[in-house]
Amino acid sequence: MTAGILDGESLAARIRAEVSEGTATLAARGVVPGLGTILVGDDPASARYVAMKHADCAEVGIASVHEHLPAGVSQDELLRVVRRFNDDPAVHAYLVQLPLPAGLDEEQTLLAVDPAKDVDGLHPVNLGRLVMGAPGPLPCTPAGIVELLSAYGVPVEGRHVVVIGRGLTIGRPLALLLASKRPGCNAAVTVVHTGVPDLADHVRRADVVVAAAGRAGLVTPAMVKPGAAVVGAGTSWEGRKLLSDVDESVAEVAGWVTPRIGGVGPMTRAMLLRNALAAAEAAAGAA
Ligand code: GUN
Repeated sequence: MTAGILDGESLAARIRAEVSEGTATLAARGVVPGLGTILVGDDPASARYVAMKHADCAEVGIASVHEHLPAGVSQDELLRVVRRFNDDPAVHAYLVQLPLPAGLDEEQTLLAVDPAKDVDGLHPVNLGRLVMGAPGPLPCTPAGIVELLSAYGVPVEGRHVVVIGRGLTIGRPLALLLASKRPGCNAAVTVVHTGVPDLADHVRRADVVVAAAGRAGLVTPAMVKPGAAVVGAGTSWEGRKLLSDVDESVAEVAGWVTPRIGGVGPMTRAMLLRNALAAAEAAAGAA
């Protein structure tokens, strides 16, 4: 079997076109949606991600506001910038790029973000809404994965999904989302991590596998039930080469698989734009 490709790049392009229509509608009312980013330090991968987010914004008519702080910035100074973004009416939504350099308090920083401007959906209030099934911004990578599976007709409802990884940005919120009562979710979800000794046995039982551990080539063909959908959400770097948690030969066994590049990444960024537009619409009273 050769797996079908879960092409996030083309789906993300369609979503960007939808967002462009939304920003044009707002612009006609004199509102330009604004997305802010706060980048601390000089991690090249983080800088590249932030730059791509701003390029996406330019394409869809969202204004960008960027603050780059040195790695040695104090927690107080970082919080001052967060409060400034909270108070700036031109910034409808924003994010603090994670991970923060050592010495800065990620939890305290995320807590200081106005939940109404939390484009990541990672503020505890918004994660709480996700737990409750209440409306709110969904974390971008989990929302992008659900959208991708749904767009390609991969059955998820009532099926067994194994999520590998329990990090704040992907694994933990994705498991909550997939188990929640919503279209394209309603799944039986197992969360495992790389410290689970019988990891392969769990993965072999899955109809859908999402690897979000950040360990290159973690999921191999021998771990995959023939015909299962396999999503590589975790990444790592070998020099400047982006590696996936899913070994490329998984395509010989799986029914569906994400490509190494152009799978989940573009979907995360598309969901970010959608959340930014939604925040601007809410602020403008148009939601
Ligand atoms: N770093 C890696 N993924 C993410 C994300 O989804 N949001 C933020 N803020 N930082 C990240």
